[in-house]
Formats: sequence, structure tokens, C-alpha cells
Amino acid sequence: MESIEIKGKSRNSTLLIGEKFENIGKYLPRKPIYIITDSNILKFYEKDFPNGKSYIINPGEESKKLSRIEDIYRWMLNNDANRGCFVLGIGGGVVCDIAGFVATTYLRGVEFGFVSTSLLSQVDASVGGKNGVNLDGYKNIIGTFSQPRFVLCETQMLRTLPREELSNGFAEMVKHAIISSKKLFGELENDCKSLLSLTEPQATWHITESVKVKARIVESDERESGLRKLLNFGHTWGHAVEKSTGMPHGKAVSIGMEMACRLSMKKGFISSDTYLRITNLLKSFGLPIRTNLNFKTVFEAMLKDKKRNSNSIDFILIKDIGSPVIEKISIAELQQLTLKND
Ligand SMILES: NC(=O)c1ccc[n+]([C@@H]2O[C@H](COP(=O)([O-])OP(=O)(O)OC[C@H]3O[C@@H](n4cnc5c(N)ncnc54)[C@H](O)[C@@H]3O)[C@@H](O)[C@H]2O)c1
Repeated sequence: MESIEIKGKSRNSTLLIGEKFENIGKYLPRKPIYIITDSNILKFYEKDFPNGKSYIINPGEESKKLSRIEDIYRWMLNNDANRGCFVLGIGGGVVCDIAGFVATTYLRGVEFGFVSTSLLSQVDASVGGKNGVNLDGYKNIIGTFSQPRFVLCETQMLRTLPREELSNGFAEMVKHAIISSKKLFGELENDCKSLLSLTEPQATWHITESVKVKARIVESDERESGLRKLLNFGHTWGHAVEKSTGMPHGKAVSIGMEMACRLSMKKGFISSDTYLRITNLLKSFGLPIRTNLNFKTVFEAMLKDKKRNSNSIDFILIKDIGSPVIEKISIAELQQLTLKND
């Protein structure tokens, strides 16, 4: 088990990677526990749940809405939750976002922690203290910054995660390697097969390294004013692909990363060898790099994205594997670079 500390502005957070869910009791305070989970997690893991009251959501993005949050506040009130209670989210990114948002706003904030059960949530969603919900089709548009007291990640819980969901996490792990370190990228290339089958010790080692990348970035820029933007590598185009095609997040981000690498190559930042190395790794993880996209539709969706800033977009490109740069690219240049799908 590896323990990683994130020093947040409001409080510190301990990430427990490779810890077993059955040991959750060691980390819980002596407080009344209010568990938020989804019905899939309940089905597989109820036997290991700690004592406490449980609120079960339907799995999926649909649950990340204010009416659900309101219902949870009411449930807590009706069950006498006071300032001294502890909220425990057990689930993937959706559950963690909801639990973190509820805990940070109920009575102006009560303590909370996560048992993070999907790969995406272990390496990304539950790391960094952002807790968001959706409104009118805008993802995570309402939210808070607040660190959970702990995040417990048991790698072997990923064995019950559907394959497609696993891919979403692999896309973020490749992203973390690309923006941080050539060495880590090389290790991913070497261990790809072991990761696909969640073989130990490689799986826990890679999840730990991936979490460290995000933890380091978040610690130096908790509120996303600078460095944290690097985590958007592949996401500017990826979000637009996701929005206009309904494709799963990881696949869309993979296509977004291919686009960012292609732009980096067209601008002369990286060689075609580096481009191929990256796209080959994405393909080894079963992720797509191109599809029959309508580029014009995706481009328009990208312009509507919240990251748009006047006539240009901050795009994250790379000068090499491990060397990301934030480039302000004019809409006209982007149009020229992206609309030609070559
Ligand atoms: N707060 C942040 O910084 C941040 C960052 C990235 C993503 N997110 C959010 O995370 C969400 C996506 O997270 P996700 O991909 O984990 O989705 P999810 O929570 O919907 O989980 C995906 C599916 O897998 C199931 N599942 C989860 N763990 C399981 C397990 N161990 N065994 C069996 N089934 C399991 C869930 O029930 C669900 O059906 C999005 O809402 C996204 O906005 C937040």
C-alpha cells in the first residue's frame, strides 16, 4: 500500500493506493457515517460496507443533478446529520463528485472521504478536490473545491468494472504520462498487457504513479489558475468529440490527444516518430485515435466550450513526451489545422 499526501488550502488529503476496502474502518473517524453509493457498487461490495446510513443513487451521469443533491440534503436532515457527521462516497467519479459536493455544502461543510472504485476515479476524479454537478447539459458547471480527508483505492475492485469503463481510466493514465515523464510513458509501453489484465504488482504501481502526477500538479495549483490546465491535454478537442458524438469520455479524450499530438507535429514541436509512439500506445490500450467524425460539428462544439477565450483557444500541446506547453492558438489557425483531417 502506498500513501500519498496532497496539501490542500482547506485541508490535507491522504490517498491510499492499494489499500483494501475491508480496512476502511482504520481511516474513518468516530462519527456518524453517511454513505453515498450507487446500486452497482452495492451489489458487488455491500458486505464490506462500514456501519452507517446509506443513500443509493442510480449509476451514471444522469444522477449528477441538483434535484438529486437536494434529495440527499433532505435525507441527511431527516436522518439527523449534524456538523459532526462524516460523508463517505463509495463509487466511481459520479458518486465521488456527488458525495464531495454534498459534504462541502451541507451545513457549510462536513468532513468526507472516498472509496474510489473506477479506474478513472482512482487516477483522476477523486484526486484534487474538485466536486462538481451538472446543469442544463453543462458538465460540472456547479461545484466546489475541497479536499476529501482520504481516498482509498483498492486496485482489485477494478476487476468488477466493465471493460469500457476501464478504458476511460487508461486514457487518463496515458495523458498523465505524456504530460509528465518520458520514463513513465516507457513503463506504460512495457506494462500495457499487465495493466489490461490488472496484474499485480504492475497495476498498483502504475495507478500510484499516475495519481502522483495529478497530485503534484494539483498541489501547486489547486484552483486551476495555471499549471492545472496541463491536465486538459486532449480534453479541449476531446470534450467537443464527446459532446457532439456521445462517445464515452476516455475514447473521446484519446481522439483529443491524437489531435493535440497532430497539432504539435504540424507546428514542428514533435517528430512523426513521437506522434506514432503516442498513438500506438493509445491503440494498445484499445482506445480509438480517429473515427468518422464530422470535423465541422466537432469544431463548432469546441468553440462553444467554456475554455474559449476571445479569438483564441488555450490548447495544450507537447514539445516532447513529458514536456507540455500551453499554446494560445487563434481560431483561424485552429480551423486550418483541424478541419483538414489529414
Ligand atoms: N471532480 C473531478 O475532478 C473529476 C475529474 C474527472 C472526471 N470527473 C467526473 O467523473 C465522472 C466519471 O467517473 P466514472 O468514469 O468513474 O463514472 P461512474 O461513476 O459513472 O462509473 C462508471 C460505471 O461503473 C460502475 N462502477 C464503478 N466502479 C465499479 C466497480 N468497481 N465495479 C463495478 N462497477 C463499477 C458505476 O456504477 C457506473 O455504472 C464524470 O461525471 C466526470 O465528470 C470528475
